[in-house]
Amino acid sequence: MSTLSVSSPADFHVHLRQGPLSDLVCPHVRLGGFHLAYVMPNLSPPITTTDAALQYKSRLEKIDPSIEYLMTLYLTPDLTPDEIRKAKRAGIVGVKSYPRGVTTNSDGGIESYEAYYHVFAVMEEVDMVLNLHGEVPSDASANIHIINAEPSFLPHLKKLHARFPRLRIVLEHATTRAAVDAVKSLGPTVACTITAHHLALTVDDWAGQSWNYCKPVAKFPDDREALREVIREGHPRFFLGSDSAPHPPPKKSTSSPDHGCAAGIYTSPILLPLVAHLLESFGALNMLEGFVSTFGRTFYGREAAATGITARTVTLRKATGSVVESYAAGDEGVVPFWIGRDLGWKIVT
Ligand code: NCD
Ligand code: DOR
Ligand code: ZN
Ligand code: ZN
Repeated sequence: MSTLSVSSPADFHVHLRQGPLSDLVCPHVRLGGFHLAYVMPNLSPPITTTDAALQYKSRLEKIDPSIEYLMTLYLTPDLTPDEIRKAKRAGIVGVKSYPRGVTTNSDGGIESYEAYYHVFAVMEEVDMVLNLHGEVPSDASANIHIINAEPSFLPHLKKLHARFPRLRIVLEHATTRAAVDAVKSLGPTVACTITAHHLALTVDDWAGQSWNYCKPVAKFPDDREALREVIREGHPRFFLGSDSAPHPPPKKSTSSPDHGCAAGIYTSPILLPLVAHLLESFGALNMLEGFVSTFGRTFYGREAAATGITARTVTLRKATGSVVESYAAGDEGVVPFWIGRDLGWKIVT
């Protein structure tokens, strides 16, 4: 197979940042072959209100109007049922919950879910999606650390689904066999995103390699195999959310005395060729369209339309001879995953 066409690829989890970095990275969604961006709210300060989300959306639309942006709010104790209703009316799609301190700009995140049950009840009623960063905070006294943080979160997912069975929940960026099994075991309202980089990496690849460091961290080979298996199987509740998360190169440095390495891997500008490369490598290329478009679009009720941007297909051609490169504009620069490698696939239209 030397060319492949995919209908209107959709990235159901991406960080488009703010300020000049946003100007640089936002057009990379399109460059990477995607027409829809499900936009994370962890700016500084986080997007916690409808008005802020709409302002952010119009800023993104000014940078690149050719993308459909689906907006989210950041779950905080200030989020009220009235604000949920207002957000729903304004077309905001989801609410993202981050456990406190787990990742970039998550200091304002959640500590316990019970405090949010009144908010979740209204989300269930009006049909807004709950997007979960599925890790519990590290806690040495309970032997919780970055390797078992995701499996330790799964009881919370099960409990939330049991309590709110009609609430649509997405477990974001799953990295473990335990998470895949948990999502499979739950009902049709629970789905799961998988990143491109977690289909490539295991612990051996990020230990000592800061460019491969992200949260949740990549786990063991058998965990990676579970992610690959569920894609090969074509399970419709598992779809792509890149978690593409650019950081300025100095923030990825491990030599600063002030901070550790920022968590995040940048894949937007190479996303579709990268996913094609990976799926081909583990015998799942026939699932490309389901994984990057139809499954997520169906879960979110955002099927590609008959006309407009989402009607378009993107065609990939097998071709060697170009390598992943970095991007810069003004004072901003970004370094994508797999810099210097040839993905073997190019976008032709
Ligand atoms: C509890 C849980 O999930 O088990 N949450 C928590 O964050 N400690 C209670 C709950 O989910 O409501
Ligand atoms: O690696 C990550 N980076 N994981 C996240 O959850 C957040 C993201 C970011 O915003 O940098
Ligand atoms: Zn996350
Ligand atoms: Zn993310």
